Amino acid sequence: MVFESKIKTIEWVNDVSRMIDQRILPKEFKLVDVKTADEMYVAIKDMIVRGAPAIGIAGVHGVALAAIELSKTISDKTEFLNKLKTKAEYLKSSRPTAVNLMWGVDKQIELACHTDGSPDEITKVLIENGIKLENEDIEINKKMGDYGAEVVPKGATILTHCNAGALATVGYGTALGVIRSAYAKDPTIKVFADETRPRQQGARLTTWELTQDGIPTTLITDGMCSYFMSKGMIDMVVVGADRIAANGDTANKIGTYTVAIAAKYHNVPFYIAAPLSTIDISIKSGKEIPIEERSHEEVTHINGDWICAKDVNIINPGFDVTPNELISGIITEKGILRPDYKSSIMNAFENISMVRN
Ligand code: MRU
Repeated sequence: MVFESKIKTIEWVNDVSRMIDQRILPKEFKLVDVKTADEMYVAIKDMIVRGAPAIGIAGVHGVALAAIELSKTISDKTEFLNKLKTKAEYLKSSRPTAVNLMWGVDKQIELACHTDGSPDEITKVLIENGIKLENEDIEINKKMGDYGAEVVPKGATILTHCNAGALATVGYGTALGVIRSAYAKDPTIKVFADETRPRQQGARLTTWELTQDGIPTTLITDGMCSYFMSKGMIDMVVVGADRIAANGDTANKIGTYTVAIAAKYHNVPFYIAAPLSTIDISIKSGKEIPIEERSHEEVTHINGDWICAKDVNIINPGFDVTPNELISGIITEKGILRPDYKSSIMNAFENISMVRN
Protein backbone atom coordinates (compact mmCIF):
# COMPACT_ATOMS: atom_id res chain seq x y z
CA MET A 1 0.00 0.00 0.00
CA VAL A 2 2.41 2.67 -1.18
CA PHE A 3 0.11 5.60 -1.89
CA GLU A 4 -2.02 5.20 1.19
CA SER A 5 0.84 5.68 3.64
CA LYS A 6 2.66 8.40 1.70
CA ILE A 7 0.88 11.64 2.46
CA LYS A 8 -2.42 13.15 3.57
CA THR A 9 -4.43 14.86 0.82
CA ILE A 10 -5.17 17.75 3.18
CA GLU A 11 -3.41 18.34 6.48
CA TRP A 12 -3.09 21.04 9.14
CA VAL A 13 0.61 21.95 9.44
CA ASN A 14 1.93 24.93 11.49
CA ASP A 15 -1.23 27.03 11.19
CA VAL A 16 -1.74 26.46 7.46
CA SER A 17 -3.85 23.95 5.54
CA ARG A 18 -1.45 21.97 3.33
CA MET A 19 -3.02 20.17 0.39
CA ILE A 20 -2.11 18.29 -2.77
CA ASP A 21 -2.85 20.41 -5.86
CA GLN A 22 -5.23 18.05 -7.68
CA ARG A 23 -5.59 20.25 -10.75
CA ILE A 24 -2.19 19.28 -12.11
CA LEU A 25 -1.95 15.59 -11.22
CA PRO A 26 -0.65 13.24 -12.53
CA LYS A 27 1.75 15.45 -14.53
CA GLU A 28 3.03 17.24 -11.47
CA PHE A 29 2.91 16.57 -7.73
CA LYS A 30 2.79 19.82 -5.78
CA LEU A 31 1.71 20.82 -2.27
CA VAL A 32 -0.09 24.12 -1.70
CA ASP A 33 -0.24 25.97 1.63
CA VAL A 34 -3.59 27.70 2.15
CA LYS A 35 -3.16 30.47 4.72
CA THR A 36 -6.48 32.35 4.92
CA ALA A 37 -10.21 31.59 4.70
CA ASP A 38 -10.41 33.59 1.46
CA GLU A 39 -7.64 31.46 -0.05
CA MET A 40 -9.55 28.36 1.10
CA TYR A 41 -12.68 29.56 -0.74
CA VAL A 42 -10.61 29.75 -3.95
CA ALA A 43 -8.90 26.38 -3.29
CA ILE A 44 -12.30 24.67 -3.01
CA LYS A 45 -13.93 26.52 -5.93
CA ASP A 46 -10.96 25.98 -8.28
CA MET A 47 -10.73 22.35 -7.16
CA ILE A 48 -7.17 22.41 -5.84
CA VAL A 49 -8.92 20.26 -3.23
CA ARG A 50 -11.95 18.24 -4.35
CA GLY A 51 -14.05 15.22 -3.40
CA ALA A 52 -16.80 15.48 -0.80
CA PRO A 53 -14.97 14.34 2.39
CA ALA A 54 -11.82 16.31 1.46
CA ILE A 55 -13.76 19.53 0.97
CA GLY A 56 -15.52 18.80 4.28
CA ILE A 57 -12.11 18.95 5.98
CA ALA A 58 -11.20 21.99 3.85
CA GLY A 59 -14.28 23.71 5.32
CA VAL A 60 -13.17 22.71 8.83
CA HIS A 61 -9.68 24.15 8.19
CA GLY A 62 -11.18 27.23 6.53
CA VAL A 63 -13.08 28.16 9.71
CA ALA A 64 -9.92 27.62 11.80
CA LEU A 65 -7.99 29.91 9.41
CA ALA A 66 -10.73 32.55 9.68
CA ALA A 67 -10.55 32.29 13.49
CA ILE A 68 -6.76 32.81 13.45
CA GLU A 69 -7.15 35.97 11.32
CA LEU A 70 -10.06 37.41 13.33
CA SER A 71 -8.57 36.70 16.76
CA LYS A 72 -5.56 38.88 15.87
CA THR A 73 -7.69 42.04 15.95
CA ILE A 74 -10.92 41.19 17.81
CA SER A 75 -11.08 40.51 21.56
CA ASP A 76 -14.88 40.80 21.99
CA LYS A 77 -16.38 37.31 21.81
CA THR A 78 -19.75 38.31 20.28
CA GLU A 79 -18.12 40.34 17.52
CA PHE A 80 -15.63 37.51 16.89
CA LEU A 81 -18.40 34.89 16.57
CA ASN A 82 -20.51 37.11 14.29
CA LYS A 83 -17.59 37.70 11.92
CA LEU A 84 -16.65 34.01 12.05
CA LYS A 85 -20.21 33.06 11.03
CA THR A 86 -20.03 35.45 8.06
CA LYS A 87 -16.77 33.83 6.87
CA ALA A 88 -18.35 30.40 7.40
CA GLU A 89 -21.27 31.24 5.10
CA TYR A 90 -18.81 32.51 2.49
CA LEU A 91 -16.83 29.24 2.65
CA LYS A 92 -20.05 27.21 2.26
CA SER A 93 -20.92 29.11 -0.91
CA SER A 94 -17.75 27.89 -2.71
CA ARG A 95 -19.38 24.64 -3.96
CA PRO A 96 -23.06 23.76 -3.49
CA THR A 97 -23.50 20.00 -3.98
CA ALA A 98 -21.25 18.10 -1.54
CA VAL A 99 -22.95 18.38 1.83
CA ASN A 100 -19.72 17.47 3.68
CA LEU A 101 -18.57 21.07 3.16
CA MET A 102 -21.65 22.38 5.01
CA TRP A 103 -21.21 19.62 7.64
CA GLY A 104 -17.56 20.55 8.32
CA VAL A 105 -18.14 24.31 8.47
CA ASP A 106 -21.28 23.99 10.63
CA LYS A 107 -19.53 21.60 13.03
CA GLN A 108 -16.82 24.21 13.66
CA ILE A 109 -19.32 27.05 14.13
CA GLU A 110 -21.36 24.98 16.58
CA LEU A 111 -18.18 24.20 18.53
CA ALA A 112 -17.11 27.87 18.53
CA CYS A 113 -20.52 28.95 19.85
CA HIS A 114 -20.39 26.35 22.66
CA THR A 115 -16.81 27.05 23.76
CA ASP A 116 -16.16 29.29 26.75
CA GLY A 117 -13.25 31.69 26.64
CA SER A 118 -11.61 34.38 24.54
CA PRO A 119 -11.31 34.39 20.72
CA ASP A 120 -7.74 33.08 21.16
CA GLU A 121 -8.96 30.16 23.25
CA ILE A 122 -11.80 29.38 20.81
CA THR A 123 -9.32 29.46 17.92
CA LYS A 124 -7.11 26.89 19.67
CA VAL A 125 -10.12 24.59 20.15
CA LEU A 126 -11.09 24.90 16.46
CA ILE A 127 -7.55 23.99 15.34
CA GLU A 128 -7.50 20.94 17.62
CA ASN A 129 -10.90 19.86 16.36
CA GLY A 130 -9.68 20.13 12.75
CA ILE A 131 -6.77 17.78 13.45
CA LYS A 132 -9.13 15.35 15.23
CA LEU A 133 -11.60 15.33 12.29
CA GLU A 134 -8.73 14.79 9.83
CA ASN A 135 -7.67 11.63 11.63
CA GLU A 136 -11.26 10.45 12.07
CA ASP A 137 -11.80 10.71 8.31
CA ILE A 138 -9.12 8.09 7.67
CA GLU A 139 -10.48 5.78 10.40
CA ILE A 140 -14.01 6.08 8.98
CA ASN A 141 -12.75 5.22 5.49
CA LYS A 142 -10.98 2.13 6.78
CA LYS A 143 -14.17 0.97 8.52
CA MET A 144 -16.10 1.51 5.29
CA GLY A 145 -13.40 -0.43 3.46
CA ASP A 146 -13.81 -3.40 5.81
CA TYR A 147 -17.61 -3.48 5.42
CA GLY A 148 -17.43 -2.98 1.67
CA ALA A 149 -14.80 -5.67 1.11
CA GLU A 150 -17.33 -8.24 2.37
CA VAL A 151 -19.58 -7.72 -0.65
CA VAL A 152 -16.82 -7.86 -3.27
CA PRO A 153 -16.99 -11.24 -5.05
CA LYS A 154 -13.77 -13.26 -5.27
CA GLY A 155 -11.69 -12.25 -8.29
CA ALA A 156 -14.17 -9.47 -9.14
CA THR A 157 -13.65 -6.76 -11.71
CA ILE A 158 -14.99 -3.56 -10.12
CA LEU A 159 -16.02 -0.49 -12.10
CA THR A 160 -15.68 2.95 -10.50
CA HIS A 161 -16.50 6.45 -11.72
CA CYS A 162 -14.72 9.73 -10.90
CA ASN A 163 -12.26 9.65 -7.99
CA ALA A 164 -13.54 8.60 -4.60
CA GLY A 165 -10.08 7.71 -3.33
CA ALA A 166 -7.43 8.94 -0.93
CA LEU A 167 -7.37 12.15 -2.98
CA ALA A 168 -11.09 12.78 -2.39
CA THR A 169 -10.69 12.30 1.38
CA VAL A 170 -7.88 12.87 3.88
CA GLY A 171 -6.62 9.38 3.06
CA TYR A 172 -7.56 5.82 1.99
CA GLY A 173 -10.76 6.80 0.19
CA THR A 174 -14.41 5.75 0.20
CA ALA A 175 -15.08 3.72 -2.98
CA LEU A 176 -11.34 3.23 -3.52
CA GLY A 177 -11.07 2.42 0.20
CA VAL A 178 -13.45 -0.50 -0.42
CA ILE A 179 -11.27 -1.52 -3.37
CA ARG A 180 -8.07 -1.21 -1.28
CA SER A 181 -9.52 -3.35 1.54
CA ALA A 182 -10.85 -5.93 -0.94
CA TYR A 183 -7.49 -6.08 -2.72
CA ALA A 184 -5.66 -6.60 0.59
CA LYS A 185 -7.79 -9.74 1.09
CA ASP A 186 -7.89 -10.85 -2.53
CA PRO A 187 -5.09 -9.68 -4.86
CA THR A 188 -6.91 -11.16 -7.88
CA ILE A 189 -9.45 -8.32 -8.03
CA LYS A 190 -9.22 -5.77 -10.84
CA VAL A 191 -10.56 -2.28 -11.50
CA PHE A 192 -12.09 -0.54 -14.51
CA ALA A 193 -11.87 3.24 -14.08
CA ASP A 194 -14.18 5.53 -16.05
CA GLU A 195 -12.32 8.51 -17.51
CA THR A 196 -14.98 10.92 -16.11
CA ARG A 197 -15.39 13.82 -18.49
CA PRO A 198 -15.11 16.75 -18.34
CA ARG A 199 -12.41 17.04 -15.64
CA GLN A 200 -11.12 13.48 -15.98
CA GLN A 201 -10.85 12.67 -12.29
CA GLY A 202 -10.98 8.96 -13.18
CA ALA A 203 -8.19 9.14 -15.75
CA ARG A 204 -5.98 11.61 -13.90
CA LEU A 205 -6.51 10.72 -10.24
CA THR A 206 -8.01 7.23 -9.85
CA THR A 207 -5.54 5.53 -12.17
CA TRP A 208 -2.67 7.43 -10.52
CA GLU A 209 -3.69 6.29 -7.06
CA LEU A 210 -4.52 2.68 -7.83
CA THR A 211 -1.52 1.90 -9.99
CA GLN A 212 0.79 3.21 -7.24
CA ASP A 213 -0.76 0.61 -4.95
CA GLY A 214 -0.20 -2.06 -7.60
CA ILE A 215 -3.94 -2.64 -8.12
CA PRO A 216 -4.52 -3.74 -11.75
CA THR A 217 -6.49 -0.90 -13.34
CA THR A 218 -7.92 -0.49 -16.84
CA LEU A 219 -8.92 2.99 -18.01
CA ILE A 220 -12.05 3.25 -20.17
CA THR A 221 -13.95 6.24 -21.56
CA ASP A 222 -17.33 7.02 -20.00
CA GLY A 223 -19.44 5.64 -22.84
CA MET A 224 -17.83 2.19 -22.68
CA CYS A 225 -19.30 0.93 -19.40
CA SER A 226 -22.44 -0.75 -20.83
CA TYR A 227 -20.37 -2.47 -23.52
CA PHE A 228 -18.14 -4.12 -20.90
CA MET A 229 -21.15 -4.97 -18.72
CA SER A 230 -22.85 -6.63 -21.70
CA LYS A 231 -19.73 -8.78 -22.16
CA GLY A 232 -20.00 -9.91 -18.51
CA MET A 233 -16.69 -8.22 -17.74
CA ILE A 234 -17.89 -6.12 -14.77
CA ASP A 235 -18.97 -7.85 -11.54
CA MET A 236 -19.72 -4.85 -9.38
CA VAL A 237 -19.80 -1.05 -9.38
CA VAL A 238 -18.69 1.07 -6.42
CA VAL A 239 -18.71 4.87 -6.47
CA GLY A 240 -18.63 7.68 -3.92
CA ALA A 241 -21.27 10.31 -3.16
CA ASP A 242 -21.52 14.05 -2.71
CA ARG A 243 -24.92 14.13 -1.04
CA ILE A 244 -27.41 11.41 -0.17
CA ALA A 245 -31.03 12.36 0.54
CA ALA A 246 -33.06 10.76 3.36
CA ASN A 247 -34.62 8.33 0.83
CA GLY A 248 -31.21 7.16 -0.50
CA ASP A 249 -31.24 9.15 -3.76
CA THR A 250 -27.56 9.94 -4.34
CA ALA A 251 -25.77 12.82 -6.03
CA ASN A 252 -22.35 11.97 -7.40
CA LYS A 253 -20.15 13.05 -10.31
CA ILE A 254 -21.99 13.56 -13.60
CA GLY A 255 -22.22 10.24 -15.43
CA THR A 256 -22.83 8.13 -12.32
CA TYR A 257 -26.56 7.88 -13.09
CA THR A 258 -25.78 6.47 -16.55
CA VAL A 259 -23.52 3.83 -14.97
CA ALA A 260 -26.27 2.92 -12.48
CA ILE A 261 -28.86 2.46 -15.25
CA ALA A 262 -26.46 0.24 -17.21
CA ALA A 263 -25.69 -1.77 -14.06
CA LYS A 264 -29.40 -2.35 -13.36
CA TYR A 265 -30.01 -3.49 -16.96
CA HIS A 266 -27.10 -5.94 -16.80
CA ASN A 267 -27.79 -7.16 -13.23
CA VAL A 268 -24.51 -5.79 -11.91
CA PRO A 269 -24.65 -4.77 -8.21
CA PHE A 270 -24.25 -1.00 -7.83
CA TYR A 271 -22.91 0.27 -4.49
CA ILE A 272 -22.34 3.73 -3.02
CA ALA A 273 -19.55 4.12 -0.43
CA ALA A 274 -19.93 7.23 1.72
CA PRO A 275 -19.57 8.32 5.34
CA LEU A 276 -22.70 9.28 7.26
CA SER A 277 -21.59 12.94 6.98
CA THR A 278 -22.55 12.69 3.27
CA ILE A 279 -26.16 11.86 4.15
CA ASP A 280 -28.40 14.92 4.36
CA ILE A 281 -31.44 13.81 6.34
CA SER A 282 -32.89 17.31 6.09
CA ILE A 283 -33.89 16.65 2.48
CA LYS A 284 -36.49 14.06 1.52
CA SER A 285 -35.33 13.19 -1.99
CA GLY A 286 -32.69 13.81 -4.63
CA LYS A 287 -34.91 16.45 -6.27
CA GLU A 288 -33.86 18.85 -3.51
CA ILE A 289 -30.09 18.40 -4.02
CA PRO A 290 -28.52 21.55 -5.53
CA ILE A 291 -26.48 20.67 -8.61
CA GLU A 292 -23.40 22.72 -9.34
CA GLU A 293 -23.18 24.22 -12.84
CA ARG A 294 -19.53 24.57 -13.77
CA SER A 295 -17.59 26.60 -16.30
CA HIS A 296 -18.36 25.95 -19.97
CA GLU A 297 -14.66 25.86 -20.69
CA GLU A 298 -14.46 22.45 -18.99
CA VAL A 299 -16.53 21.10 -21.92
CA THR A 300 -15.28 23.25 -24.80
CA HIS A 301 -11.58 22.73 -24.06
CA ILE A 302 -9.20 19.87 -23.41
CA ASN A 303 -5.79 20.87 -22.07
CA GLY A 304 -6.39 24.46 -23.11
CA ASP A 305 -7.40 23.62 -26.71
CA TRP A 306 -10.84 24.26 -28.21
CA ILE A 307 -12.44 20.96 -29.24
CA CYS A 308 -15.79 22.10 -30.69
CA ALA A 309 -17.50 24.73 -32.83
CA LYS A 310 -17.12 28.19 -31.26
CA ASP A 311 -20.84 29.10 -31.31
CA VAL A 312 -22.26 25.84 -29.93
CA ASN A 313 -24.46 25.92 -26.80
CA ILE A 314 -22.93 24.43 -23.66
CA ILE A 315 -24.39 23.10 -20.41
CA ASN A 316 -22.16 21.62 -17.72
CA PRO A 317 -23.78 20.18 -14.56
CA GLY A 318 -21.07 18.79 -12.29
CA PHE A 319 -23.25 16.08 -10.72
CA ASP A 320 -26.31 13.92 -11.33
CA VAL A 321 -28.67 12.09 -9.00
CA THR A 322 -29.00 8.31 -9.02
CA PRO A 323 -32.48 7.25 -7.83
CA ASN A 324 -32.44 4.95 -4.79
CA GLU A 325 -34.05 2.03 -6.66
CA LEU A 326 -30.85 1.62 -8.71
CA ILE A 327 -28.64 1.31 -5.60
CA SER A 328 -27.90 -2.17 -4.16
CA GLY A 329 -26.44 -0.82 -0.91
CA ILE A 330 -24.87 2.23 0.73
CA ILE A 331 -21.58 1.30 2.43
CA THR A 332 -21.02 3.48 5.52
CA GLU A 333 -18.78 3.37 8.59
CA LYS A 334 -21.75 1.89 10.49
CA GLY A 335 -22.33 -0.96 8.07
CA ILE A 336 -24.08 -1.44 4.73
CA LEU A 337 -27.48 0.24 4.47
CA ARG A 338 -30.00 -1.62 2.31
CA PRO A 339 -33.40 -0.73 0.83
CA ASP A 340 -35.78 0.49 2.10
CA TYR A 341 -33.34 3.39 2.54
CA LYS A 342 -35.84 5.66 4.31
CA SER A 343 -35.84 3.19 7.21
CA SER A 344 -32.21 2.04 7.09
CA ILE A 345 -30.91 5.63 6.94
CA MET A 346 -33.20 6.71 9.76
CA ASN A 347 -32.07 3.72 11.87
CA ALA A 348 -28.39 4.53 11.27
CA PHE A 349 -28.92 8.10 12.47
CA GLU A 350 -31.04 7.03 15.46
CA ASN A 351 -28.31 4.58 16.55
CA ILE A 352 -25.71 7.36 16.37
CA SER A 353 -27.76 9.74 18.50
CA MET A 354 -28.33 6.92 21.03
CA VAL A 355 -24.55 6.41 21.27
CA ARG A 356 -23.94 10.17 21.66
CA ASN A 357 -26.67 10.74 24.31
O1 MRU B 1 -16.16 17.53 -8.61
P1 MRU B 1 -15.46 16.60 -7.69
O2 MRU B 1 -14.19 16.04 -8.23
O3 MRU B 1 -15.27 17.21 -6.31
O4 MRU B 1 -16.47 15.39 -7.52
C1 MRU B 1 -16.14 14.33 -6.71
C2 MRU B 1 -17.10 13.22 -6.73
O5 MRU B 1 -18.14 13.28 -7.36
C3 MRU B 1 -16.77 12.06 -5.86
O6 MRU B 1 -17.22 10.86 -6.44
C4 MRU B 1 -17.47 12.25 -4.51
O7 MRU B 1 -17.13 13.49 -3.97
C5 MRU B 1 -17.13 11.20 -3.55
S1 MRU B 1 -15.49 11.36 -2.96
C6 MRU B 1 -15.16 10.24 -1.77
